[in-house]
Parts: sequence; C-alpha cells; structure tokens
Amino acid sequence: MKRLRLPGDKSVGHRALILSALAEGRSEIEGIGDGADLHSTIRVLRALGVEIEADGGRLWVRGGRLRAANAPLDCGNSGTTLRLLTGLLAAMPFDSLLIGDEALTRRPMARLSQTLAPLGARIHTVEGRPPVRVEGQRLRGARLHPPVASAQLKGAALLAGLQAQGVTEIIELGPSRDHTERMLWALGVDLQRDGALLRLRPPARLPAAHWRLPGDPSTAAFFWAAAALRPGRAVEALGVSLNPTRLGFLDALRAFGAEVEIRAEGALACGDPIGDVRVTGRGLRGIEVAGELALRAIDELPLVAILGAAAEGVTRVGDAAELRHKESDRIEATAAGLRALGVEIEALPDGWRVQGGPINGGLIDPHGDHRLAMGFALLNGISRSPIQISDRGCVAVSYPEFWSTLADWGHS
Ligand code: S3P
Repeated sequence: MKRLRLPGDKSVGHRALILSALAEGRSEIEGIGDGADLHSTIRVLRALGVEIEADGGRLWVRGGRLRAANAPLDCGNSGTTLRLLTGLLAAMPFDSLLIGDEALTRRPMARLSQTLAPLGARIHTVEGRPPVRVEGQRLRGARLHPPVASAQLKGAALLAGLQAQGVTEIIELGPSRDHTERMLWALGVDLQRDGALLRLRPPARLPAAHWRLPGDPSTAAFFWAAAALRPGRAVEALGVSLNPTRLGFLDALRAFGAEVEIRAEGALACGDPIGDVRVTGRGLRGIEVAGELALRAIDELPLVAILGAAAEGVTRVGDAAELRHKESDRIEATAAGLRALGVEIEALPDGWRVQGGPINGGLIDPHGDHRLAMGFALLNGISRSPIQISDRGCVAVSYPEFWSTLADWGHS
C-alpha cells in the first residue's frame, strides 16, 4: 500500500497568506504547496508591499502595511486569488487593477461586485469579467447576499467586512467550504453562524499567527481515485484536511463501492480537523451525485464522471452548473475528453449522465485545466490502449509534482 503526504491545502494556503498580509506583525506559514496559484497570491501580495520570505517549506509574512501597486496585479490562472484579493483591496485607501490569464479573463466577476456593493465597495468589471478595477473605499457593515453558493465570494465578503465599520452579515445560499470562517475563529474573531447567516463583528486589529496547513484533500482525491479504479489496491493520504465541507468525494467513493477508512488525529490545522484517509479499490458501480453532496465535492466532480466511465451502470451528476465557470467549462471539457475515449456521456446543463463501459486509449486535451489533466491520466492502464495528455504542464497550477508522484505509485 502506498502512503502519501501531500502539500498543504490550496484554499487554506491562499487564506493563510491573505490573512497574514492583513494581520499586524509577522506570521509564519508551514507546509504551503508549490503550485502556480499560490505563487500568484504571493506575487500579488509582494506587489502590494507585503514582505514575504521563504525558507524551505516555511514562509514568513509581515502584514499590516499594504500600499498601492505600480502595475496591474496579475492573478494568473487563480480565481481564488482574484476574488479574495478583491475583498481585501475593496477597503484600502488606494485603487488596484486585477488581471489574469486568458482562462481567468473568461470567468464571471459581476457576482463579486454585486456581493460587495452593499458595503459601499466600488468594483468595476469589463462586462462582468476581469480586468477588475477596485476603487478602495471606507466600507460600512451591511447585510450581503452572494448570488451563488461560493466560498470565494463569502471569503471576499469576510475580508472586506473585517475592515468595515460595523457588523457585516452574509446569507449563504448553500454550505460552501468554510475555511475563512474556521481561520477567523482560530484568530479569536467575533464571527457567529446561525444557520445560513454569518455575522462578523470586525476586530480592532487582526493578530499575526502561526499557520500549519492541513494536507490538500483535493490533491489526495486523484490518488484515492487511482486506488478506487483498481480492485485490491489501496492508498493512504496522511495528515489531510477532514473538513466536512471538503469531503463529499469520499462519500461519493463509498457509494461507488470503494472502501474508505478515516482515522482522525484529534488535532486541528488552520481550524480543520486532520487525519489519515485510506481508500481501497473494491470495484465500482454507478452512483448519483446532486444537491448538497455536489457542493461538498465540487472540485472533484470531473473525477466522479471519470470514475463513472469505469463503473458498472450509469452515473449521474446534477446541481453543478457552476462547473461551467471553473478553470475550464468542466462540463463540456470532461464530456469531450471521455467521448474521445469512446465513453457514452451526455453533457447536461448542470452535470452529466455517464454510461460505464470499456475505455479506449487516445490523446486528451485537458483545456489547460489542471484537475482534468490529472483526472484523465488515471484512466491510463484501465484503458484498452495508452492515454496521453496533450498539456501535462498545466498540473503546475495546483500540484507540479503530480506526474512524478503518479509514476512512483506505478502509473505513468
Ligand atoms: C475555492 C472555492 C471554490 C472551489 C475553488 C476554490 C476557494 O470555488 O471550486 O477551487 O478556495 O474558496 P467557488 O467559490 O466558486 O465555489
């Protein structure tokens, strides 16, 4: 059995960097990953005058003193960087311009200006897309209604609310990942949850902290899926986040028929419980994923379709129209990739219907999307002939070591 210790969670890494930039004093971050998205956040914060020193797997961030950048802030491929930083910058006494690569420039941002507007934030998009121009303002607390269940919108709202005068309330449409909340609780911030309502009373100042990151369950998911595809094979990810808002994929794996064993360590990292998760392949049968489970597995849904292709019977995924607005249109790109391998798959407005069966080999275009490149690679070996990925380099967005880890585990 293979054991893996994966780099720190990407969502938590962005938040550790940004909260440290806002906090007064020197924060330490341990276990951050080396993905390009996190480098985008680091690069943008440095351009805003934040001192960040790196030494091995540790970072030190001196926060509390942001100043205007003298050039546009390039968020690369990272939607989390752009959206969270818009919340941070909305309350600064200067203006900023956030840009991104071609894929990020296609992603919807009107939802961001709409969410933050009641605070008095002035955020301008170009027909609802980046570049995003932020006119820094004094903000006043307000009740916010993000129009989508999205942790990036909620995170942006909390980062703006932390700097506003008075109480900010956020009404969530669904249980999106709650890392920002947990990290603010870890800092002792007065943030209450009452059902779908979050109420933030901003502190006079945010304290510096020592953040030790939990392992990334969305990266572990590829290796759990690799085990699930091969009866009798097992893989254990050590020290991963057991945050329930992130573990929908493990419920999906159980429903597929895989054996899932979770051993909690009893410790918290950045507010998340952590532990070891072992998945053993036991053959796959088709499943249905929708509703709240789709939200808790949002980044892993392409993997559900990919596993569905190898499962017995039909797999259906629904209530996931947001997948059309990720690093690629994941509904169309996943369907196109599986079709190229001879799989019978129907793209629905909000998911797929996949008929399990034999999988051919072929060349797959992941549409520059890291999660699709990693997901399709797992079918190589299950397929009748080899599968090649046309743009292997795009995995660098979240996990540059993916190919070597996979090869080490006996795949190529
Ligand atoms: C993220 C939130 C999710 C997720 C993304 C990371 C975050 O997006 O898909 O990969 O770190 O807040 P949404 O906020 O659009 O749901």
